[in-house]
Amino acid sequence: METISTLYIPVNRAYHSRISEVDWDNLDFGKYTTDHMLICDYADHGWQAPQIIPFGNFSLSPTTLALHYGQTIFEGLKAFRMEDGSINIFRPQKNYDRMLLSAERLCMPMVSMELFLEGLRRLVELEKDWVPGQKDSSLYLRPFIIATETKLRVKVSDNYRFAIVASPTGAYYQQPVRVKVETDFVRAAHGGTGYAKCGGNYGASFYPAQRAKEQGYDQVLWTDGRENKYIEESGTMNVFFLLGDQLVTPPLSDSILDGVTRDSLIALADREGIKVAERPVSVEELEHALESKTLHEAFGAGTAAVISPISVIGIRGKDYMLPGEGLRPGIGSRLKEVLEKIRCGREADVFSWNFIVK
Ligand code: COI
Repeated sequence: METISTLYIPVNRAYHSRISEVDWDNLDFGKYTTDHMLICDYADHGWQAPQIIPFGNFSLSPTTLALHYGQTIFEGLKAFRMEDGSINIFRPQKNYDRMLLSAERLCMPMVSMELFLEGLRRLVELEKDWVPGQKDSSLYLRPFIIATETKLRVKVSDNYRFAIVASPTGAYYQQPVRVKVETDFVRAAHGGTGYAKCGGNYGASFYPAQRAKEQGYDQVLWTDGRENKYIEESGTMNVFFLLGDQLVTPPLSDSILDGVTRDSLIALADREGIKVAERPVSVEELEHALESKTLHEAFGAGTAAVISPISVIGIRGKDYMLPGEGLRPGIGSRLKEVLEKIRCGREADVFSWNFIVK
């Protein structure tokens, strides 16, 4: 995908680079941040001039609205090193569209598509040496907006900051994931903010996730807020199940995040001739499929998590082990490989997903 922009973004370069501090073999998610970040403030009903400056702390008043009432939204996307040495940001327009929805739900102004894309491009161009080349690694990009008006009154903020920070990263989960089907707590209710990528959704999920961890799981598998009957998504990713010969994922709703990886996998599975369906999956169906061994594979899909195989599903105190991939790679691995090939330029980008930086 090609775009031409005349947007000027001044760069104030860092005096010293911290790149030599990186342990490239242990890229723990979010541990390292690159030398620069983009910032742009909203004041007087408009976005001011963006700039790229050395990565550093924000100075915030203790009464900054975001700190109290959670008016914050974010995105997660990745830049990959391509075979020919160029750098590719994967599907940033899709992240833009989702952030627009999040902004609307949280009553926040959204930056222009031009600022979003050009900001990402300029930052990644500047930080090109920070884009790792080894398998399963990339430069994770985190655009976000926070409410910056200083006032304790409960109100929609008049001021905001948009920022993009970047972090070289490896695999989010090192091992197949053990998930617990959560039927006591909910992540999102109908009419709530489940489809938005807002900070509050994550903060509110920590307590059930922490309890699940204490019980030996890595994550929860959320069920719907009305009846706790249907599977929705996992804490950091959407979910897919290979039920019989069909790859099934819960349909989007206002309580499920419209994952970019989810969307990409549906398109790829379809192209690969894999039967794929977006339909409700009840806990009962899952339990039955586990008992009758017709659930052959389950995996999570997300920008950070990419495709993470699920090894155990806990339902109401009973743990079901999934068979694993055995001798032949499963559908999750197959789709992951195709996705990686497209992102790194080893296979044609037939869907025009790649946004080439250099
Ligand atoms: C992502 O996959 O980008 C996410 O935002 C999930 C999590 C790391 C917050």
